[in-house]
Amino acid sequence: MTDQVKSKQRVADYGEVFTAEREVKAMCDLVKDETERIDSRFLEPACGEGAFLAEILARKLAVVRKKYKRSVTDYEKNSLLAVSSLYGVDILADNAAACRERLFDIWNAEYKAVCGKECSDDVRRSVRFVLSLNIICGNGISMRRVDDNGNDTEIPIVFSEWAFISDMNIQRSDYTFDELLNGDRPENDDMPDWFGCFETDEGTFLKKYVCDYRKLGVTDNG
Ligand SMILES: C[S@@+](CC[C@H](N)C(=O)[O-])C[C@H]1O[C@@H](n2cnc3c(N)ncnc32)[C@H](O)[C@@H]1O
Repeated sequence: MTDQVKSKQRVADYGEVFTAEREVKAMCDLVKDETERIDSRFLEPACGEGAFLAEILARKLAVVRKKYKRSVTDYEKNSLLAVSSLYGVDILADNAAACRERLFDIWNAEYKAVCGKECSDDVRRSVRFVLSLNIICGNGISMRRVDDNGNDTEIPIVFSEWAFISDMNIQRSDYTFDELLNGDRPENDDMPDWFGCFETDEGTFLKKYVCDYRKLGVTDNG
């Protein structure tokens, strides 16, 4: 087996063959400017362990380091923004978990290199929280979350849009995946009770949260 294949069974069941680094880099070079824009959004819809997201994050963070290395706060905010612009879906839970871990490790290594002793565990928790929402275990075809056996549940895939709305506050707006891709407006009756979704003239979104960027995931406000 090569690093690109975990097992013949997984290839047969899920078409799981990871893309080699050389091809990843060459494909990212086709959209080089976008990969170097801190807040440009990318979705890897069958992300595996995040081969493309990892390369894009590394490129974005190189830009963040260059521009913001002199201010810890500016570095933290912009590197968080870079992470928050990346989305992934994979049907296998171990792949989604490995992808989150891979992206966190890339971000954290850079954070340590740039901010050294001023690194904060609060910011690390915020980044982990963003990754827990952005990298999803689900079915990219049915656009539903899956259970431990990879079977569709009734829960739609939801993605969070992140944006700084003031100096320290970041806003999260949740949207259903199918709506982002197709512009579909799901019937409210189809949505599970816990979403409490509502509609605006701009489309259906589920919920908005605002909190300090260092406190994501601490309370319900994240
Ligand atoms: C060819 S691999 C590509 C992985 C990664 N994008 C890369 O380039 O290294 C395909 C991936 O799709 C996942 N997959 C298969 N069916 C899927 C589905 N219906 N929804 C989401 N992911 C799926 C597999 O688990 C596998 O990780």
